[in-house]
Order: sequence, then structure tokens, then C-alpha cells
Amino acid sequence: MSLTVDDIVDRCRMALAETSAVLAVRDVLDELVASPAEIADALGPVERGGITPLHRGADLTVLHVAWTPGMALNPHDHRMWAVIAMYGGQEDNAFYRRRAPGLEPSGGRELRTGEVLALGDDVIHSVANTRREFAVALHVYGGDFFSAERSEWDTDTFEERPRDLERTRRLFEEANDRWLRA
Ligand SMILES: [Fe+2]
Repeated sequence: MSLTVDDIVDRCRMALAETSAVLAVRDVLDELVASPAEIADALGPVERGGITPLHRGADLTVLHVAWTPGMALNPHDHRMWAVIAMYGGQEDNAFYRRRAPGLEPSGGRELRTGEVLALGDDVIHSVANTRREFAVALHVYGGDFFSAERSEWDTDTFEERPRDLERTRRLFEEANDRWLRA
């Protein structure tokens, strides 16, 4: 039987019962991205970048994220653990530390197809897709991604402001328009 979105969500939900939910979710995603084509079949073709919720709850959010080629998302935090699992393309993560005021860069990690990255509650990162293909991933969070209070920082000035998901949505739309016109 082929993998479904419900299977993906159920396996993440079951992992929440483990002693370390974030490590258990990481193990689940490691297993899933070992067969990237099965995830692609379950989620269907990607023609535009965006964030699609597969599950939203108080203790767990599962997102399907497609980064448009050429797109970069400014630094932000999550204030809950997160696990990112790439099933196609590559996302380039840059990490930051708080500095008064603003941020300072603190390394990076290129995440390729089949790779999984677990992030702690206090991680601040920015994400870029520098390739000419969509970077597609499952993003799993240990809380309600859409209601939690979080911060984002301006890409150029590193000025902190409340996380604005509407601004993020517009970034995707602009990147999609550029890519589809190209
Ligand atoms: Fe993030």
C-alpha cells in the first residue's frame, strides 16, 4: 500500500508519545525521506512554492513546504522544536545568535534530499533555495506553528519584529511570480 498524508501525520503523532518527541520525530522523518519518491507521490506535484498545513494541533504541526527557486526567507525563530526533512532539492540554512541589538551569524547547514535537521526551541535561522528546482520538505513542529508568538528579523538590518506570516506568504507569491515569469 502506498504512503498517504494520513500515514505521515499518524507516524508523527505517535512519535509525540516517546520520551524525547523531537528525537522520535527525527527518526520517523529519517525513515520517510529514505524513500523520497514515496513522499512526493503522497503529496502530489509541486508547481508553486508555499506552505501547506497537513496537520495543525496544539502540540504538533506538520507542514508541507516548497521553497521556490531563488527564494530566501529572512531570519526567524520558532520557539518550539522543529524537524525539517528534505525529499527533493536543497535548502540552505543560515543560523544566528541574538546580539544586543540584532543578530550575529553563527554558521550554516546545507540540507539535501534525504537529509533531516532537528532544531531546538531557541534556534534562529534563515532559509534560501539557490537552486533552479523547488526545494521540498516536511516541516514538523512541537506545537501550534500558526498561533505561537515568535520573532523575525529584517534580512539587511537584523532589526527584530513580531513574526508576520502574511509577509512570509507575500514573499512566496513574489518568488513564485518571478520564477513562473522566468
Ligand atoms: Fe524556520
